[in-house]
Amino acid sequence: EVTPAFTQGLPKAELHLHIEGTLEPELKLKLAKRNHVDIGQSSIEDVRATYQYDDLASFLAVYYPAMNVLQHEQDFYDLAFDYLKRAAKNHIRHVEIFFDPQAHTSRGIAFETVINGLYRATVDARALNIDATLIMCFLRDFSKESARKTLEEALPYKDKFVGIGLDSDEHNNPPLKFARQYEDAAAAGLHLTAHCDIDQKDSIEHIRQALEIMGVERLDHGTNIVEDPDLVDFVANHNIGMTSCPLSNAFVSPEMKGKEVLELLAKDVKVSIHSDDPAYFGGYISDNYYAIADKFNLTKDQVVRLAKNSFETSWISDEAKALYL
Ligand code: HPA
Ligand code: ZN
Repeated sequence: EVTPAFTQGLPKAELHLHIEGTLEPELKLKLAKRNHVDIGQSSIEDVRATYQYDDLASFLAVYYPAMNVLQHEQDFYDLAFDYLKRAAKNHIRHVEIFFDPQAHTSRGIAFETVINGLYRATVDARALNIDATLIMCFLRDFSKESARKTLEEALPYKDKFVGIGLDSDEHNNPPLKFARQYEDAAAAGLHLTAHCDIDQKDSIEHIRQALEIMGVERLDHGTNIVEDPDLVDFVANHNIGMTSCPLSNAFVSPEMKGKEVLELLAKDVKVSIHSDDPAYFGGYISDNYYAIADKFNLTKDQVVRLAKNSFETSWISDEAKALYL
């Protein structure tokens, strides 16, 4: 039987984690005070009371304004290092951390402030026995021109991050909008992933674009793929990773896409379990594993398979991978 202790103790790779989504109310209040930013709330209970959302857009409307408390390099360091300490408790051995530079540069914070703070925390993570890397995401509801500028700013720092991703509001913002940036990033030797959020308008078309045209190595969420058997064959045959986040799904879909995850597992797709925005969706990675295992009666073997898939589809070296498979 799968217990919380079992999901916690299992060595895991975290591949779908937005660092801004790890901003806990405690740190939010501490940084608000330190930086003299008025966030409109002064207690943890007040902050938590604002955490009301039932779809992607209403979540993002709470999520982005909170980032105002992040001002200085040290703030980004503290955010990431606080997370990494939690990751260590969750027996995460490898983590690829998403960050959204445009959520910060658009309010006047320099790109280098963001990446230097986050990167320094990933270096210090070695002392926690965690191998940590960064993935830069484009905000898909911002313009192509903004994405172009962001990539241009980022490329001089390309030894500090390993890949690019695509997040934020997917409605009418298909992957292809960023085809040029994906091409340029691939040419610069960066890895590619993209969110295809659950139950979006044009979900299947977005998944198809990301896989067949832009050549992503992973899909973040993407579980609507089960509606298209040819695309399921494609991800199975090409070892494409699929990162599913049960507790964030639970906010918009009562079954947290557990049936889809089981179907993908049965078809030998490299699906894995992750935490998305744990400070906002009620749990860290072990809680996400436990939530789906408990609701769908997963066996220990299935849970171990999900964890192995996370290492297998991660962007660590083959030697490091071999330690976990
Ligand atoms: N989807 C899109 N954008 C996001 C998410 C997500 O799940 N989390 C943080 N930004
Ligand atoms: Zn996400």
